[in-house]
This record gives sequence, C-alpha cells and structure tokens, in this order.
Amino acid sequence: MQPRNNLDQASVIPDALKDFTIVEEPFYRASGEEVALFEAAYRMRIPVMLKGPTGCGKTRFVEHMAWRLGQPLVTVSCHEDMTAADLVGRFLLDADGTKWHDGPLTMAARLGAICYLDEIVEARQDTTVVIHSLTDDRRILPLEKKNEVVRAHPNFRIVVSYNPGYQSVLKDLKESTKQRFSAIGFDYPDDLAEAEIVAKEAGVDSAIASALVRVAQRSRNLRGHGLDEGASTRMLIHAAMLTRQGIPIAQACRMAIVLPITDDPDVREALTAAVSVCF
Ligand SMILES: Nc1ncnc2c1ncn2[C@@H]1O[C@H](COP(=O)(O)OP(=O)(O)OP(=O)(O)O)[C@@H](O)[C@H]1O
Ligand SMILES: [Mg+2]
Repeated sequence: MQPRNNLDQASVIPDALKDFTIVEEPFYRASGEEVALFEAAYRMRIPVMLKGPTGCGKTRFVEHMAWRLGQPLVTVSCHEDMTAADLVGRFLLDADGTKWHDGPLTMAARLGAICYLDEIVEARQDTTVVIHSLTDDRRILPLEKKNEVVRAHPNFRIVVSYNPGYQSVLKDLKESTKQRFSAIGFDYPDDLAEAEIVAKEAGVDSAIASALVRVAQRSRNLRGHGLDEGASTRMLIHAAMLTRQGIPIAQACRMAIVLPITDDPDVREALTAAVSVCF
C-alpha cells in the first residue's frame, strides 16, 4: 500500500526529521475502527491517548499511522527521572559558548511531526504539564529559558500511550492532562486475528500460531489469579520465533512466556500445565 497523506497542506519533510520518517509500511492488523478514529482525531488536531495492556500493538499502531499519514514520528519513552528540559530542550556548552538544543517535543512542534510519548504516566506530573499549552487550542510551547514561544507547525500532533493496568494513585495523569486527550482503547486481538499476527510477524505456520494463541488465552484467564497480566501478543511472537530456531514448542513457551511472566512457582506450574494441553 502507498502511504496516504490526508493532510490539506502539502508537507515537505524537513531534513532534521528525515530520520524520523517511516519509509516501509509497518504491518498492522486492525481489530476495529481504530484507523478511522485516529484519522478523524488527526484531521481535527485532537490529541490522542492509546490505552491498553503491554504488547498489544499500541506502538505498532502509531508507527503504522505515521506511515499512512506520511508524517515523521518522534518517540519519547517516558520515565520517572525525565525532566521538562528533556522534552523541551536546554542550553549546552560548546566551543563558542552555550547553544540551545531543541528537545524532542520542541523539534516535533517546531518542524511538524507526530510526537509519541510512550508510557506517559511514568513521567512525573510536573514534567507532563509542559504539554498543556500544546494540547489545547493555543498550540504553543513557551521556551522560558530561551525567551521564545514556539507556535506549533500545522502538522504537529501529540499521541500518548499508557497501560491502565499499571495505574495507581501515585502514578496517574493529572485530570487537567487527561482531559486534553481523546482516547482509543486497545486490547489483545481476537483469536483469529492474533494467530494471523503471530504467523506473519514470526514467520510460522498457522497451526503453531493458533496453538500459541490458546496458550495466551489460558494465561489471560489467570489475570487476577496470580498474574497481573496474561501473555502479550509480543510474547507469543517471541515463542514462535524460538520454534523457528528448532526449539520444541513447549520449551519455547517456557522460555518466552512462563519464566518471564511470573516468579511464583505455583503460577508457573499452573501455566506450564495450561501450555501442555494446548499442543
Ligand atoms: N494489531 C497488530 N498488528 C500487527 N502486529 C501486532 C499487532 N499487535 C501486536 N503486534 C505485534 O506485537 C508486538 C508488540 O506490539 P507493540 O510493541 O505495538 O505493543 P505495545 O502495546 O506498544 O506494548 P507496550 O505497552 O509494552 O509498549 C509488535 O512488535 C508486533 O510484532
Ligand atoms: Mg509500546
């Protein structure tokens, strides 16, 4: 498929963003209306939040959408120690004195890219507030240290992801941050779709892929009964890839699913038993 650019304005990607452009189509198997919903929000410049469990396709989706829309994608993995300066930029010393360096958020806003803040709840709330003026109708980013106000490029968009399962009182978004976003809910795909994804991503036949999906479903039934989350699509792909290296499927499941997902011997045993009935 050719990338489709749905923008009204012709967009020439600036050199600084060339490395952030996705040239080849990232394979994404849609489960519902998420592509149309994202495009609608995109056209209206409404910030989008992707919510769903780990390894269910959120990052792949945003990569696919950036490719589809012909827009560069600047990704930031959020973490506790991230500061506003890490997003916005800072003065750095060089041979001629100090020189301002735009952070990823400023670069995306100034030049026009989709800025994807992955796992936004990991960042401290006093860091995430820097996106407020960019995510309301002002679409500006004041750079206080530099005495400059960046007006966001027409193609600038902001997308964030988070996993509602990890939410806690300590780690949650401020109400005023949340309410700036629209949201698209993600979950593991249905069994046929998930088997198709595993088969395609790992290059295995559909019988192995379907068996692995059955393993995942059983592990997902253990959610809340010893497991915080069931096996993700990502884990199934890893197990499938190991089988391609000649590892027997039960052992591949142990290595890619059972051991990483829990340290509890009873839950491991339950999972191992669940795995063995799937083949
Ligand atoms: N719908 C899908 N279409 C194609 N591939 C998918 C899909 N869902 C999951 N995958 C595969 O699963 C892998 C994990 O997905 P991805 O990295 O997008 O998860 P995520 O939701 O961003 O997880 P995390 O919250 O841990 O970052 C991808 O690399 C891709 O191989
Ligand atoms: Mg991700």
